[in-house]
Amino acid sequence: MNPDLARLQPYPFERLGRLFEGVTPPTDLKLIDLSIGEPKHPTPQLIFDALIASLPGLANYPATRGTDALRQSIAGWLMRRYTLPRVDHATQVIPVCGSREALFAVAQAVVDRSRDALVLSPNPFYQIYEGATLLAGAQPHFLPAFPANGFRMEFERVTVDEWRHVQLAYVCSPGNPHGRVLTLDEWQQLFELADRHDFVIAADECYSEIYFEEGKAPLGALQAAHALGRDKFERLLVFGSLSKRSNAPGLRSGYVAGDAALLSQFLLYRTYHGNAMSPPVQAASIAAWSDELHVIENRRKYAAKFAQATPVVQRALKVDKPEAAFYLWAATPFDDEQYARRLYADCHVKALPGSYLGRERNGVNPGKGFVRLALVAQEADVLEAAHRIANLKL
Ligand SMILES: Cc1ncc(COP(=O)(O)O)c(C=O)c1O
Repeated sequence: MNPDLARLQPYPFERLGRLFEGVTPPTDLKLIDLSIGEPKHPTPQLIFDALIASLPGLANYPATRGTDALRQSIAGWLMRRYTLPRVDHATQVIPVCGSREALFAVAQAVVDRSRDALVLSPNPFYQIYEGATLLAGAQPHFLPAFPANGFRMEFERVTVDEWRHVQLAYVCSPGNPHGRVLTLDEWQQLFELADRHDFVIAADECYSEIYFEEGKAPLGALQAAHALGRDKFERLLVFGSLSKRSNAPGLRSGYVAGDAALLSQFLLYRTYHGNAMSPPVQAASIAAWSDELHVIENRRKYAAKFAQATPVVQRALKVDKPEAAFYLWAATPFDDEQYARRLYADCHVKALPGSYLGRERNGVNPGKGFVRLALVAQEADVLEAAHRIANLKL
């Protein structure tokens, strides 16, 4: 077997299952699960309708690059969302089967394993970055995000010698788990570093559409590139998804957009990898990218939950309302694993210990001492969970 498989860490939810083993939660309280970042609002009817109407498409093999119509609808959405003068649907967009597989695949396509390769990643982080890095034959290089640094990736921490080996940098904005959004200055710093040290930026923006005030959408990487005069999106690949935007995680639909030269190589890789999007899913995706009303309604629901639940959770835990995304990244009064276990045992609420999302470096795991609360359940359940958290006797 590939020896790199042995380097993969157990997925956080596997560890969570083990943490709760042998615990009997109170049966008079129903389970409220805030541990998994799976959207729970209903999938819009327009997705079902388009999917069903396109079922005869199952008779055909899809092309890996998708149909022109799908790439046009994604390019059109990107131009509207990020006020971009031009995104070329022929060369600057590829559909992907959810951003997860694409975030994994990009490392396989980009990393030159004949040289000692480093891949930058935030810490704590979406676990795919690490698995992708290890299976590409590279080493992850983590940049810790703490309250003390405002959850910023401190690129200045990377030494000149380390930069020589960096081939790929994952960034996540809005960030999972803390919801932080990269600023234009940070993008400028990162683009300059990528030019100087010749690496590719993989910008994970799967939470870009979950924010709390209409008209105040988070800055995107393509938008930042355009503002800085990089209209060819040099060295940049952006990953987006319908999973959170359109409450369709089971559809497995997203996009990669950016640098045409990188995308043509990525497409070559993907042709062999064989992850083309099913024709009915392509049709349903066009319907989803072409409609904004359901996305606004989705945001309204998250905004209501955050407005109600955040002050209640704040009675017990130190936590700020995030800039975007659907998580509260809350500091725990004692060890995060023990806290999550107590919360489950006493309140029947599942939360994810932050240490499961981080890696220890130099004796410090920056996820330690936090829990991630995904406000994905229905409004009444989220509020009920917040009250149980506030009333937990320590
Ligand atoms: C930060 C981040 N990126 C990417 C994904 C993958 O989403 P999908 O594959 O559904 O597009 C997730 C899913 O939870 C995530 O949290």
